[in-house]
Amino acid sequence: MEIIRIPRIMQNTSRKYLQKGQSIGFVPTMGALHEGHLSLIRRARAENDIVVVSIFVNPKQFGPAEDFTAYPRDTDNDIAKVRELGIDTLFIPEASLMYPEGFATGISVGMLSGRLCGLFRAGHFMGVATVVTKLLNLVSPTRSYFGQKDFQQTVVISRMVKDLNMNVEIVVCPTVREIDGLAMSSRNRYLTLEERTGATVLYRTMTLVSAALHTGTAVAAGLKEMLQSELKREPLITAIDYASLYSPETLEELQELDGKEVLIAIAVRLGRTRLIDNLLVNLS
Ligand code: PAF
Repeated sequence: MEIIRIPRIMQNTSRKYLQKGQSIGFVPTMGALHEGHLSLIRRARAENDIVVVSIFVNPKQFGPAEDFTAYPRDTDNDIAKVRELGIDTLFIPEASLMYPEGFATGISVGMLSGRLCGLFRAGHFMGVATVVTKLLNLVSPTRSYFGQKDFQQTVVISRMVKDLNMNVEIVVCPTVREIDGLAMSSRNRYLTLEERTGATVLYRTMTLVSAALHTGTAVAAGLKEMLQSELKREPLITAIDYASLYSPETLEELQELDGKEVLIAIAVRLGRTRLIDNLLVNLS
């Protein structure tokens, strides 16, 4: 496994893979790798000749009051994990090389970035879209793999790739959950033991609402009410940023349940940690 830290060298390496006719599967990450990331890497390994993983805690997707400095960094363990999965290249760029003096570009993906998390994390999706564009330009993957856990991120990136004619297939992979349903996330490391137990309310509540959706008699407003009141029963939840039913395509809140697919999406604060989760429910 080769470790590359210089963007230009990453670009040259990818060019060589492509010249040999090899397909490249790419998994961009911010490190602190957990089973969710590893499932993306395994899928990339199964579907491509070459697998590239990046680790870069992207400063541009964190707001000034967010957890950029505290974000877990665990590079030595991450290197051991990806080595074991037999990847070909690990790209760990320096921030100063990704965003050199004078860097001035930001990719804005319209309304999709302004909904859900966008209402609470100004500039977040511009930061994500910008770094993903840079990474895709450096790695030139055939396919790039993202987890459904960050549903809005997958919608924003898929839109951007389509709008900008980027030559890559975006593959969205299922959320990997702990045995009690909590979605795997690097931020779960912030939770105290008590908060970790309280965090199970997210999946439990979504499952309840999903079951109600399947009865076919529920109305959107009633389900939103059910979602919010169940979450409020957990005393460690200090704020609900959003919790409702949305269109998986436009991310608009649903007033009527007339579509085939419904996205249940939640963002809450549990102590000092912000947790998000979602469930895509197929009604057909
Ligand atoms: O999902 C993440 O870890 C990040 O948002 C990504 C896609 C690696 C961009 O920094």
